[in-house]
This record gives sequence, structure tokens and C-alpha cells, in this order.
Amino acid sequence: MEISVARKVVREAVPVFLLREREQLEAHPFFKFLSAPDRQFLQAFQKKSPLKDTHSHLVFLPSSGEAILLGISERKKFTHRKALLAMRRAIAFARRERVKQLSLSLDDFRAGDFRGTPDELAEILATELELANFEFTQYKAPPPEGWQFVERVFVSAKHRPKNLAKSLAVGKTIGEEINRARSLANTPAGDLHPSSFSREAQALGKQYGFAVKVLGRAHMEKLGMGGILGVGKGSAHEPKFVIAEYWGGKGSDSPVVLVGKGVTFDAGGLNLKPESGIYEMHMDMSGGAAVLHAVAALARLKVKVNAVALVPVAENMPSGSSYHPGDLLRTMSGKTIEVLNTDAEGRIILADGLTYAQKFYKPRLVVDVATLTGAAMAALGQRASAIFTRDRRLENQLRTIGEQVGDFVWPLPLWEEYEDEVKGTFGDVANVGKTRYGGAITGAVFLWQFVKNETRDMRPFDAAQGKQETRDDVPWVHIDIAPRMTSIEGDFLAKGSAGPAVALLVHFLRKY
Ligand code: BES
Ligand code: ZN
Ligand code: ZN
Repeated sequence: MEISVARKVVREAVPVFLLREREQLEAHPFFKFLSAPDRQFLQAFQKKSPLKDTHSHLVFLPSSGEAILLGISERKKFTHRKALLAMRRAIAFARRERVKQLSLSLDDFRAGDFRGTPDELAEILATELELANFEFTQYKAPPPEGWQFVERVFVSAKHRPKNLAKSLAVGKTIGEEINRARSLANTPAGDLHPSSFSREAQALGKQYGFAVKVLGRAHMEKLGMGGILGVGKGSAHEPKFVIAEYWGGKGSDSPVVLVGKGVTFDAGGLNLKPESGIYEMHMDMSGGAAVLHAVAALARLKVKVNAVALVPVAENMPSGSSYHPGDLLRTMSGKTIEVLNTDAEGRIILADGLTYAQKFYKPRLVVDVATLTGAAMAALGQRASAIFTRDRRLENQLRTIGEQVGDFVWPLPLWEEYEDEVKGTFGDVANVGKTRYGGAITGAVFLWQFVKNETRDMRPFDAAQGKQETRDDVPWVHIDIAPRMTSIEGDFLAKGSAGPAVALLVHFLRKY
């Protein structure tokens, strides 16, 4: 989809009037561009059928063709969250009505609680338009009338941002990378194995000029990555470890390392998953897709930051060669994992990823992203990813950015009291908790064992609180994206992957 700047309503594009309940049509910036008969027609139309929030109409104007009227809530109730949905609704409605070209006014989407700049709003708009214009069509014959996508959007603004064209281009790039992450996640497990995932990563690196290395089994054996190798044992497809490096910052700056869970299919292993939900487990590499495409977006935008994406990629299958419940896996960190349940595999492969991050880079920050637990969904529903960190400032930053770009995160506790849950009997760390409760926290606390360095002294870490309360070696954030893995009704997004965490990471790293 082309997204460009327009100074006024473009003749061949259908204008979209976002109209607030109980507000004057005449105040809309597009109104003055209409001919007198069109104005009268619209005024009469609105009088007859006043627009409510969520109402949408396609109207035929007497002199200039079609217009789209989208109702939104009155000014004081119109929040930025609603604005994000309105952006998607504009595209969703246009697609339904087979409209190919649209004119939008950026000012329509400025809600009272939006704290960003006009340029930031333009970026967000372009991203949301791209997200709403996406469909996973690769495996379907096109309908006789062809796929319905919007081809061109013209954006005008009364209060024109300084760099409108640039901001729209940036937002579009981010939207495209989110969509590519969605495509990758939507690709069925029959067609996406650790090797093809790795090839995708290499192609991406080649396309946008960042280095991608892939380690195979032999190399991982040398490094002692018993976690990834253990999880991958049951599969006919060799596990891989993908390393994507983007050095856009100063040579002396240590990188931010992103670690993404790359389970191309999670059958549960010998603790085979029940029927419900297993069909979606080809998306269990969504974290890997997110970190990879976040780095791709940073490279495309030439952001001045050093960022590395690490993706342990494995398929978790039951077979004669599977790892077993009860197995004790020696990880790259030297710690052993007591496998109590082969279905809690994500944390096992991430353990090696987190160790690799600390051994081979001196990371400024480590962020892992994973479809880690169903328990995070039980806790939060499907509207926010769970975020865990000991650093209050990072937590707040990520929450604020998530809110602004619609990639919502919500914190859960990371307390030492929970560590008892993952103490092993025969191994150092057990991969499931002792009780059935707080599963998302257990997952996070497990991962924590692989980023903390018990031999270090206490040091100031929780900047916002100014307390010395942590022994962590490296600032670390864990994001459990299981809740937002797939889109839900009311998202105005295509079914399947929602592409969580890409927007969050990209916007965060542009500022960090
Ligand atoms: N990949 C799943 C978690 C998941 C569930 C992601 C639903 C997205 C949607 C993960 O590997 C898993 O199976 N977790 C188990 C952990 C349990 C065995 C401790 C879970 O959540 O049930
Ligand atoms: Zn699992
Ligand atoms: Zn999993």
C-alpha cells in the first residue's frame, strides 16, 4: 500500500470523515473541499441518521462520488486506544466496500490523551493502516474478484507535522516488518522448520544489510547448549541457533540483545498437548519472528543503535528420540535443568539463548520475547502481553510505549519469594513450578536464574526506586507474548498472528 502526503482531498480517492458523536460535520477538514450539493447531501444524511460510535457508512455524493463516514465517540470519550482502532477500521471498512484509494485527515485521529508529537501520530497511523491491510493469503486461491486491499492512502493534516512524509514512511516500514513477522508466524509447521526459519533470517539479513549467522547441532554441542539440543531431540529437523547482528550505533556502544523463542511447532513433546490449542502451536516461534523483524526494521530505518537478535529454533515433538520427563539437561551456563514437563520447553531453549547473550556480548540490556505460558493468558486475557523486570524505569518506559503504539504490556511480579518454585530436586532448576498457580511468574523466575549472577555484590538497579535490591548482572526484561499471539474479535486485524512485540521493541530501541 502506498501512503503519501496530500495537501487536500485527492479527486480519485474516497475521503474518510471520522465524525464524533454529536459533533458538526462542518468542522471536518475535508468538508470545505466538497461541492455545495455534496455538502448539502452530507448534512441531510447526517441529520437523518446521526452517526454513533462504531457506525460506518459508504455514501454516494451527488457530484464527487463516494465518501466514507466512520462514527467515533464524542470528544471527551475518544481516547488514543480508540484512535488506533479507528485507523484500522478505516481500512477494514474500505476493504469491505472494495474501495482502493482513501483520503484521511491525520487530525481526525488525535485523541485528547495522546501525548506524542504530530510526527509520532503520523508514524502510528501508517503502521496501523499497514496492519489492517494485511491478510495471510499465500495458501489460498484468490477469489474471482481478487483480494481486496487498499492500494493507496493520501494523508493530509491541518496542523502539519514537520516531517509528515518521512514519518509516514517510517510508520509504514514498521508496519511492513510487523506483517512479515505475522506471515512467518502464520506459516504452518509443515513448511517452517528450524532450517527454513534460519534461511528466512539469512535472506532478511542479506536484503537489509545486517549479518546473520546460523549455528547447527555440531556447533551447539561444542558450546554446550544442552537446553536447545535437548528440546530439539525428538524432531526430525535439526535445531538451529540464529544470530542477527545490526551494528547501527557507535562501535564502542554495547548492544541491546533480544532473545526470541523459536519453537516452530510445540506438540508438547512426550507430555503431548491435548487437542485444544495444539493447532495454533506453529505460532510458537512468534517471539523469534518478533526479534528478527524488529532488528530488520531498525536496519531499514538506519536507527543509530547496536542490536542483536538471538533465536534458538527447535521443534518440540514426541518421538523415540525425544527428551524425557525426568531428563537432566546441562545448559551452556553450567546449570542443569530438571525436565519435569517436556511442554515447558520455551524456557529451556531461552536459557541457552540468555547465556549466549551474556557470554558473547556485553549487553546493555537483554530482552527476551516468548509465547511462554498459557498462564499469562489466564492472568491477562488476550489484550496485553505480560512483562517482567526488576527495573521499574524500563517497565514504565515499555508500558508507555506499548500504550502509544497499541502493543500493550502489563507487569507481573518478579520476586525472590517465587524462586522456591523452580528449585530442582536432582537438577539445579526445575522447568515447572511446584504448584499449579502463577505459571507465568514461574516461567519468568525460571529465566531469571539464567541472567542473575549470584556471586556479584548488590548494586543499584531499580533506578526509579533508588533501592539496592537486586543481584542481577544485566538489566533484563522478559515479555510473555502468549496472550497477544493471535488477533481477537474487535482488533480489526486478520485472523492469525497479531505480530506482538515488534512495534514495542522498535519504538523502544529508537529511544533507548
Ligand atoms: N507454547 C506454550 C505456551 C502457549 C500456550 C503459548 C498457548 C501460546 C498459547 C508453552 O510451551 C507451554 O506449553 N507452556 C505450558 C507450561 C506448563 C507445562 C508449565 C503451559 O502454559 O501450559
Ligand atoms: Zn510447550
Ligand atoms: Zn511452547
